[in-house]
Amino acid sequence: MQTGDNAPMPQRIGVPREVYPGEKRVATVPDAVAKLVKLGFAVVVEQGAGELADLSDEAFVQAGATIAPNAAALWSGSDIVFKVRAPTSDEVALMHEGQTLIGFLWPAQNPDLMQQLAAKKVTALSIDALPRTLSRAQKMDALTSMAGVSGYRAVVEAANAFGRFFNGQITAAGKVPPAKVFIAGAGVAGLAAIGAAASLGAIVRANDTRAEVADQVVSLGGEFVKVDYEEEGSGGGGYAKVMSEGFQAAQREMYAKQAQECDIIITTALIPGKPAPKLITAEMVQSMKPGSVIVDMAAEQGGNCELTEPGKAVVKHGVTIVGYTDLASRMARQSSTLYGTNLFRLTEELCKTKDGVINVNMQDDAIRGLTVIKDGEITWPAPPLAAAPKPAAKPLVAVEKKSAHGHGSSGPMPAKTLAIVFGLGALAFWAIGAHAPAAFLGHFTVFVLACFIGYMVVWNVTPALHTPLMSVTNAISSIIVIGALVQILPPEAGTNGRPDALIQWMAFGGIVLTAINMFGGFAVTRRMLDMFRK
Ligand code: NAI
Repeated sequence: MQTGDNAPMPQRIGVPREVYPGEKRVATVPDAVAKLVKLGFAVVVEQGAGELADLSDEAFVQAGATIAPNAAALWSGSDIVFKVRAPTSDEVALMHEGQTLIGFLWPAQNPDLMQQLAAKKVTALSIDALPRTLSRAQKMDALTSMAGVSGYRAVVEAANAFGRFFNGQITAAGKVPPAKVFIAGAGVAGLAAIGAAASLGAIVRANDTRAEVADQVVSLGGEFVKVDYEEEGSGGGGYAKVMSEGFQAAQREMYAKQAQECDIIITTALIPGKPAPKLITAEMVQSMKPGSVIVDMAAEQGGNCELTEPGKAVVKHGVTIVGYTDLASRMARQSSTLYGTNLFRLTEELCKTKDGVINVNMQDDAIRGLTVIKDGEITWPAPPLAAAPKPAAKPLVAVEKKSAHGHGSSGPMPAKTLAIVFGLGALAFWAIGAHAPAAFLGHFTVFVLACFIGYMVVWNVTPALHTPLMSVTNAISSIIVIGALVQILPPEAGTNGRPDALIQWMAFGGIVLTAINMFGGFAVTRRMLDMFRK
């Protein structure tokens, strides 16, 4: 079976068992298989591929997959291969011309692999090269899903190595202080770690060179600790840049203080294409209390801590330093499920026709970004996106600045404009008052005042609270229920006598629907506001 636009036969997606030592993840899960089959593909899974992620061959078969007895059979019989880790040379040797490979290939770090794949005349899609800032790409963003799992697992590893509770407790045997956790780098993994540590009851602090993440840290229950040095830390696309010497010195000072105070440090700081910044020095480790824990999530890229040993947990100066590089694999079932879903979403984008045949459309920004080899030709790196979208976190800075002025989404209106608007309004009001009938004027005055109050209320609300505000206004709008109540009331209560049965039934329907709107609106508002409460 060959790929290609003129091949009408449904293609076969193959999922081999991962061969990287210790890798427990698998590139698809039964739920995703069922959806791929619905899209028209045939799916074949290598025997035992999901075993280490607690996914049996039977579960895959039930979802509609067939089982290949070994790697050779799987690779030779597949048009498209889903992988987690980049293929080994042995795996590349099993590939054939026209095949499509999808997985974490890290083209910048693996130039030899790129050459081998190009020589095989295959098409390769590297999921790590997806342009993450495209909002359409978020459902396929496996880097984010894996970072989320790793951040959570880092807290679990820290809790495992730490000899105390995370939350403070007052027991008959004495008072237990809460653990203090410091998170260095509040990207996707750091934010997941903040959420997990805070939910366990620890006092969580975090720092990042990108100031825009401060709000996100706070919303997850952490405290943002600033470096006492003014410098913009964004390097574009939502990522960090290498900071100046002055900033680094100020940051070291602050980190040294945190190391003395905190029990657990989780580091996640990375700069794309650069070795991980060294943030925790040997002296800082030495200054930590005995029994403290460091989890260095940047271990694979050289580590954020000078004493980290990648892949191992070691004890130095009485501090456990965890440098595991397989955090996502340690939660194999969860990460496989997320990754499998990301790859299914990608397949959906590749197969808009839903006929089981993919089309690697190089005109599509997202697909172009992650296609690193097309029919044997290296197409990596992709040209930068035409209009680089702003990073997702940016608006939060705007919110912070604007709310500092006490205004909402569009900033304060200049005094002159305000005076003109009010002047024109007053003039129009006078003109209407002078010529309109008296009854109209009464209603009109109420209408104008309602607009004014509504405007003033909304204008002064922080944009982050606009959605709960809308749901509560929606609930309040149910005041129209009074109209329906008037219609359904007995004749002596109304002024126009009892309306006919049809109107009464319609009024009854109106009351039911409005009640749903009213109670539902308040319930939704309550749930939303709860998200802002700790
Ligand atoms: P990452 O894994 O490359 O870096 C982790 C964190 O370390 C980043 O927040 C970075 O600012 C921080 N960092 C780097 N050097 C540091 C230093 N010297 N000191 C302290 N912190 C340092 O980044 P990740 O987690 O993959 O993504 C980072 C950001 O990218 C996200 O927070 C988001 O803003 C953006 N992004 C946007 C997406 C979107 O728009 N859909 C999707 C994914 C990420």
